[in-house]
Amino acid sequence: MTGSNHQLLAQENDVFATCARIKYFDVVLDHGKGAVLTDVEGNHYLDLLASASATNTGHAHPTVVKAIQDQAAKLTQYTPAYFANSTTAKLAKRLAAIAPMSGPVEVAWGNSGSDANDAIIKFARAYTGRQYIVSFTGAYHGSTYGSLTLSGVSLNMTRKLGPLLPGVVKVPFPSPWEQEADESDEHFVNRYFKAFKEPFETYLPADEVAVIVIEAIQGDGGIAMMPPAFMQKIYDFAKEHGILFAVDEVNQGMGRTGKWWSIQNFPGIEPDMISTAKSLASGLPLSAVIGRKAIMESLGAPANVYTTAGNPVTSAAALATIDVIEKEHLLARSQKLGAKAKAYFEAAKEKYPFIGGVRMYGLDGGIDIVNPVTGAPDEEATTKLIYRVFELGAIIISLRGNILRFQPPLVITEEQLDQVFKIFDQAFAELAAGKLALPAAAKEMGW
Ligand SMILES: Cc1ncc(COP(=O)(O)O)c(C=O)c1O
Repeated sequence: MTGSNHQLLAQENDVFATCARIKYFDVVLDHGKGAVLTDVEGNHYLDLLASASATNTGHAHPTVVKAIQDQAAKLTQYTPAYFANSTTAKLAKRLAAIAPMSGPVEVAWGNSGSDANDAIIKFARAYTGRQYIVSFTGAYHGSTYGSLTLSGVSLNMTRKLGPLLPGVVKVPFPSPWEQEADESDEHFVNRYFKAFKEPFETYLPADEVAVIVIEAIQGDGGIAMMPPAFMQKIYDFAKEHGILFAVDEVNQGMGRTGKWWSIQNFPGIEPDMISTAKSLASGLPLSAVIGRKAIMESLGAPANVYTTAGNPVTSAAALATIDVIEKEHLLARSQKLGAKAKAYFEAAKEKYPFIGGVRMYGLDGGIDIVNPVTGAPDEEATTKLIYRVFELGAIIISLRGNILRFQPPLVITEEQLDQVFKIFDQAFAELAAGKLALPAAAKEMGW
């Protein structure tokens, strides 16, 4: 296929299902390098989305590319569902070594974050012999039936799809914007813990609950960190009632927050299982559940096998990804550049009253755009901003309509970050001056 962005999109449109893309900009990507994407017309963009946090090592990282090429020439596929291969076996050991839990752990492979979260449901039910699962509003856990049932962030994810998986109960997530202006942190946490306990006190026997599944920092829910005191309360509750505690690290793991796993931002919390995917293999389709050995041994084969899961090429990419994160000190880099980005957006907040909140955990940010007078989410202003940023040469999308999602590849250079800030300087100033118009396709854009 050759042609302009619009020609190619028009061709694709004839045969592409609407439900398979959240629309933002009319761009067709051709190649990428580091933090820069290039479209089919040769336009360059600084990438502030990193393929939805799936390319933390940047685009076409030479170490990852070489590992993929070498492995593809050696053994492209043999299913670990029947026979082990040397590359995937090595990766299992490596992943177990960086798991955020003490004691022996085991790994089970999948192809996507969604199926890894389904697997968490399977292991939890099998190990505990209990049926109920608790998850949070605002969560995005994936698009298979199990994981979409756990999710609670978009009506289109469940509309027309029921009946969903039985036994999943949702409790409200304490998103930072839900805290009243004059409410203390303690009151906020207690208010949400009370809401958390309500089902358990009225219709959900705690001794029939298998697992609580959380995103420690909700990604699609707005890059929103669970208050540590709230986390501690629900963790203690889980321990008290023999409920497993599972953390979805699909979006926030693999160095995104400046730690291997986002749960490591919460000292003292040790999950029983985590799910990982996306950046695990620098965006190649590989996922894993890593869990305590006894839990992972509660199922017999073939309860969780997939023909292409733990594929040797994706495993080689994952080994190379871990090498790059270690050798290029990407955890420290995420912290350092994240602090720089935080300082930039906080200074912008002082200047522009339409910036209502800035959250940044490593290179992992959510910036709320609000009506300066009422403080209410301002979706129009957000769409104007992201579109202007796109015109000026960077790709950023919105979450929940009014939150800028700031997740560049962790290899972004300081110079590139400075360029990004210049772009925002201009876009913010133009929004403040009333110079930005809504793009023609605004109604179709975003979640
Ligand atoms: C936190 C989280 N969990 C699970 C998923 C689903 O992963 P996948 O799209 O690879 O199935 C996503 C994807 O955005 C995610 O952000």
